[in-house]
Amino acid sequence: MGLRLGDIAPDFKAITTEGEISFHEYLGNSWGILFSHPADYTPVCTTELGKTALLAEEFRKRNVKVLALSVDPLDKHKGWVNDINETQHTEVHFPIIADEDKHVAGLYDMIHPNASETFTVRSLFVIGPDKKVKLTLTYPASTGRNFHEVLRVIDSLQLTANYSVATPADWKEGEDVIVVPAVSTEDAIKKFPKGVRVVKPYLRYTPQPNK
Ligand code: BEZ
Repeated sequence: MGLRLGDIAPDFKAITTEGEISFHEYLGNSWGILFSHPADYTPVCTTELGKTALLAEEFRKRNVKVLALSVDPLDKHKGWVNDINETQHTEVHFPIIADEDKHVAGLYDMIHPNASETFTVRSLFVIGPDKKVKLTLTYPASTGRNFHEVLRVIDSLQLTANYSVATPADWKEGEDVIVVPAVSTEDAIKKFPKGVRVVKPYLRYTPQPNK
């Protein structure tokens, strides 16, 4: 059984390109992203790590620490980072775990044997400051993830955590958000001074509170 939303993200110690880390200590009070890649020196993975590095400032602004993983060894990671920097016109500064013994891959169920016996799939976990799993994504090796979507879901998760609102389909930063069912319309009117638009008793919108 893999990890489910609301579970505590398992703690671990690991060797990374930025030295040995202890996962929960590394996260501290930040949000976190732990994401796996099938293998070093592969094309899709190269673009994914490059894109993540290019978006480093966006992750920093949202108080998110990023941690990548593949089951290849540390010296291979280090050589590959040079290629990522060169080809993707960036500098990778986040740690990449060298999970040679597949310890972390096992804890997070990142190897799906019917896809590959040896390599991790593209798993991604968003972890909250409470160390609980807030979101999981699983993509096959052949499809690169959309890191703007990852930022979008972090924005949504942080809005829910801070303001008790949800976000509708295809929501984008700056658009109206949804009042969660647990908040009555009476309370919502007090809580959201920018106004509450009631479409149905269960479908209520308010302007994004932190804009
Ligand atoms: C890639 O990262 O390009 C990749 C890795 C494994 C299988 C297919 C593609």
